[in-house]
Formats: sequence, structure tokens, C-alpha cells
Amino acid sequence: MEARAHMTVTHAQDEAAAVAAAERVVKVHLALVEKLRPGITAIEIDRLVGDALESLGATSCFLGYRVRGHPPYPSHACISVNDCVVHGTHLSEKAPLAEGDLLKVDVGVRHRGFIGDAAWTYSIGSQTELGRRLQQCGRESLRRGIEAMRVGRPLVEWARAVQEHVERECGFHLVRGLGGHGIGRSLHEPPFISNVVPTYPGEWNEAWKPFEAGMLLAVEPMIAVSSSETRSEGREWPIRTADGSLSVHYEADVLVTPQGPRNLTAELFDLPDVVGR
Ligand code: MF3
Ligand code: CO
Repeated sequence: MEARAHMTVTHAQDEAAAVAAAERVVKVHLALVEKLRPGITAIEIDRLVGDALESLGATSCFLGYRVRGHPPYPSHACISVNDCVVHGTHLSEKAPLAEGDLLKVDVGVRHRGFIGDAAWTYSIGSQTELGRRLQQCGRESLRRGIEAMRVGRPLVEWARAVQEHVERECGFHLVRGLGGHGIGRSLHEPPFISNVVPTYPGEWNEAWKPFEAGMLLAVEPMIAVSSSETRSEGREWPIRTADGSLSVHYEADVLVTPQGPRNLTAELFDLPDVVGR
């Protein structure tokens, strides 16, 4: 089947809306880091995200989101702790956060018809040595991957840069089967952006398609200490590492331009790795 054509952001009005949506995602993260601390619960975190979105005139594009085989997504944000890589909910992550926990918050907004979607990882209260190495690896892989998003180069260049850093240099594992995606007026648009170079034909059909000016892409390395496999239970949303090892997730919204990649959520890089100390 031919993949649905991707959309491009070329009109100034669309670009302004995409920038405004991404800006709201960043502001939610900024508001949240002030409140994160040991003892806080996922229910409280999700309420803080909901309140922040409301005060910014945006709504969650995750809440109520439907994917076949799952109930509608129940939370404003994805709240994923330790071995939970992505799609944790305010109901699935039951334990209050403890010192050294790795918390991933993924925020998706709809604002003026456009989507913003970005995730970041926080160490709660203090940072373990393993947490520090994972966070450093995740941030750096995202930074290097974005640098590779050049007009005319194939999409696989993103995966090459990310995989080289995560698996060769850091010795961690990229989670297989999940990846980035186009964003625009809906949350998940083509093309799919794998974090790993394909190893057999058909694994990633769009790998050799070029980055084009105006592509708006949510790119998101998901990294685990010792497994590239995941597990989930039945119709439940949370996706956990198969071996229970710790994981991080970093996601940015990038507009591909003739002048180079423009990270609309770049301010996330200024956030502290450790919060609530
Ligand atoms: N950033 C995640 C993704 O792109 C968030 C999806 S959560 C969902 O898949 F609820 F919307 F599915
Ligand atoms: Co996403």
C-alpha cells in the first residue's frame, strides 16, 4: 500500500501555528519542573499538566486519543516511570515518585489547529550514576539526530546518528518498533521516523526518502539500559522494557528548512536533569 503523502508547513500562517503549539508544550514542561519532587503522584502530575494547558489556551491532543486495540487514552500527558518507556498514564504509574526515579513526561497539545508533541526525562530529587549516563545519552542522541535532518538527505541519516551514539558510543539499547512521526493538524502523520537503521527490506520503507523543506517531524529516541524489546499487558497503554531495565525518552518537534533543522522545542534542552532536590 502506498503511504499517505506527508504534509509540509510552508505557509507563514501554518508555521506560526506550529511554533505556537510547540511553545505551549515547552511552557507546560517549564511549569511542571517547578512542581516535581519526591512523593508526587502521577495523578497530581497529570492534573498539573491539565491546569497548565488550560491556562495556556491549549488542550491535550492525547486525552481521549484512540488507537485500535486500546481504550481511549485516559490522561492529559504520558507519565512513564523507570522501566516504563512511553505511554504510562496517571492510573498505571501508581507509586509516588521516589528519589532517583526517572520520570518521562510526554506533552501533546492542540492549539490553533496545530499539534505540538514533546517529551523530556527528569531525575526526581537526585540522580543515580546510571540515570545520569542515560539522560546524557538521550539528550546527546536527540541533539546529534536533529543535526542530521538536512534537506535532500535520506531519513535514515537521523537513525544513523542516533544509533551510532546510543548503541556504539554509550552501549545502551534503542527500543525497537516505536519511533517518531510527522505532526501537523493531526498527531500521527507520515513519515515514520525509526530510531534504528533497517536491517532487512521492508523494515522501514521510508528510510531512503529525503528530508524535505517544510516537513514537521516529532523525533523521539527511546533508550533502555539492557534491552531493545518491550512488553505491555493486554489492552493497557504503558509500554515497558522487556527486562525491566531503566529507560529514557526525549522528543522534539523539528521543522526541516533549507537553512537547516529548526527545533521548535529547543528550550527543553535548558531544563535541569534533576528536579525537586
Ligand atoms: N509522543 C507519543 C507518540 O507520538 C504520544 C502518544 S500518546 C497517545 O506516540 F495517547 F496519544 F497515544
Ligand atoms: Co510523538
